[in-house]
Amino acid sequence: MSISVREVAARAGVSVGTVSNVLNRPEKVAPDTVVRVNDAIAELGFVRNDAARQLRAGRSRAIGLVILDVGNPFFTDVVRGAEDAAAAERMSIILGNSDEKVEREAAYLDLFEQQRMHGVLISPFGEITDRLVALRKRGIPVVLVDRTSTDRSFSSVSVDDVAGGRLAATHVLETGRRRLGFVGGPMEIRQVTDRLRGTRSAIEKVADATLEVIGIDALSVVQGHIAGEEIASRDAADRPDALFAANDLVALGLLQALMNRGISVPRDIAIIGYDDIAFGSAAVVPLSSIRQPSASIGKTAVAILLDEAQDPRLGARHVVFQPELVVRASTRG
Ligand code: RIB
Repeated sequence: MSISVREVAARAGVSVGTVSNVLNRPEKVAPDTVVRVNDAIAELGFVRNDAARQLRAGRSRAIGLVILDVGNPFFTDVVRGAEDAAAAERMSIILGNSDEKVEREAAYLDLFEQQRMHGVLISPFGEITDRLVALRKRGIPVVLVDRTSTDRSFSSVSVDDVAGGRLAATHVLETGRRRLGFVGGPMEIRQVTDRLRGTRSAIEKVADATLEVIGIDALSVVQGHIAGEEIASRDAADRPDALFAANDLVALGLLQALMNRGISVPRDIAIIGYDDIAFGSAAVVPLSSIRQPSASIGKTAVAILLDEAQDPRLGARHVVFQPELVVRASTRG
């Protein structure tokens, strides 16, 4: 049973209002009274209930953030940027990892609605506009992170993934590769399909270039490794001569599998990833990638969300960052 403010007041011999002042405005209370109240708090093991207090005030000072994969350093950097921006406004981030699963994503949205979060940031797995509309109807603003919604009715902060895919494919084509493999999935993830769309637009411009789409079940090292094993098991003539992985984790799995089977990267098969996570540049063959301004994505999303929480009449705003090609050993030459 949790200790109440009333029990603390009785133990310290003061009013409930004095206890509240000690908790929220100690500078307005006589020092000896502050000591007596804090002693009573310690003796009784009282823990303040900020959630209830904030709910009485009408809105939490916490922002819910749902990401696709907590194991992906790209999202770690996005969260760090969001936390820095939230902390500057004396707010906090409550993180939910959907793990690319619809049911987990829905559970976090339900939780954040029940907790009446100040707002919700989300990198959705699929199209969930209806669910987000319900949140907004409850007065909880929503901003999409690293994604735009099909109807663009929700503000968003993203990177032009079509341009990113085009950059990656154009780069490997310019190194002379002609049999490109795109390794990505699930195709519910818009970031994947946009990168594939960009790849196709680059391939179309080169007459003798071909594209093979190699689907995977998750954007992970394990799935990249499985795809790499399958490619390595083919006759050399049946393998792509370049692989564009939908993100760096997949690219690292591909690199590991190909090298384990004695395939030389980039000599036999070039590999390029997406995100430019730190592990990519530190890989045994440093990974070429498409850099995203991850921390800026998080910071900008919080700024837009706080504006919309302040004034719900604000229309949807869409910030789109441009991706950047980073060339390293895995595609050079
Ligand atoms: O998890 C989805 C992917 O999309 C991440 O690797 C990152 O590239 C994001 O944009």
